[in-house]
Amino acid sequence: MTSGLWITLEGGDGSGKTTQAALLEQWLREQGRRVVRTREPGGTDVGVLIRDIVLHHRGDIAPRAEALLYAADRAHHVATLVRPAIERGDVVLQDRYLDSSVAYQGAGRVLDGGEIRDLSLWAAEGALPDLTVLLDVDPATARGRLDAADKPFDRLEAEKGAFHERVRAAFLALAEADPDRFLVVDATRAIDEIAAEIRSRVAPHLS
Ligand code: TYD
Repeated sequence: MTSGLWITLEGGDGSGKTTQAALLEQWLREQGRRVVRTREPGGTDVGVLIRDIVLHHRGDIAPRAEALLYAADRAHHVATLVRPAIERGDVVLQDRYLDSSVAYQGAGRVLDGGEIRDLSLWAAEGALPDLTVLLDVDPATARGRLDAADKPFDRLEAEKGAFHERVRAAFLALAEADPDRFLVVDATRAIDEIAAEIRSRVAPHLS
């Protein structure tokens, strides 16, 4: 039986994750793999409800409550969708995972990054992806893309530049600490070039 594979995409808002996930999904299907595309928050029915709170609630959410909401989404998602898919031998291609919590709730919201990571690992019973693609872009460029897309900002996107600078630095530090799991891609390059770089890192995992 083909063994399952778990790939997560990380990066700041406006880094191009959705575009790259779509291209990678298409290529994986061409390689004959079954792909489950999913995301956090909001990869399950329960997760959709949690996503609505964390992204669209008007007014403050206490930082620890926000961290727990993301962790609750994660616990349900990993238990009911991600693990079963990997056990079936599928490729799970996922927008955001615990690195987002460490970067946004840790560095961004100034909770302790180590505690946030431990909370997520508890929620997900220690599950970590085989590969994490970090699409790295400076927040000013990303903000320009979000402005051009002309969609209303969610709670996190609406945060100030300094918040997004801290998030970026936290992602890069996570990648540096775990080069076996991470691929860091310069997300200002051409879409096709980025896609090719990602494919060449994924390919060895398929054989
Ligand atoms: P995303 O789905 O990438 O937003 P969009 O649909 O606009 O592309 O991410 C939603 C937001 O949630 C994003 O600003 C980052 C934030 N987030 C956290 O703060 N912590 C987390 O653990 C996760 C998974 C996301």
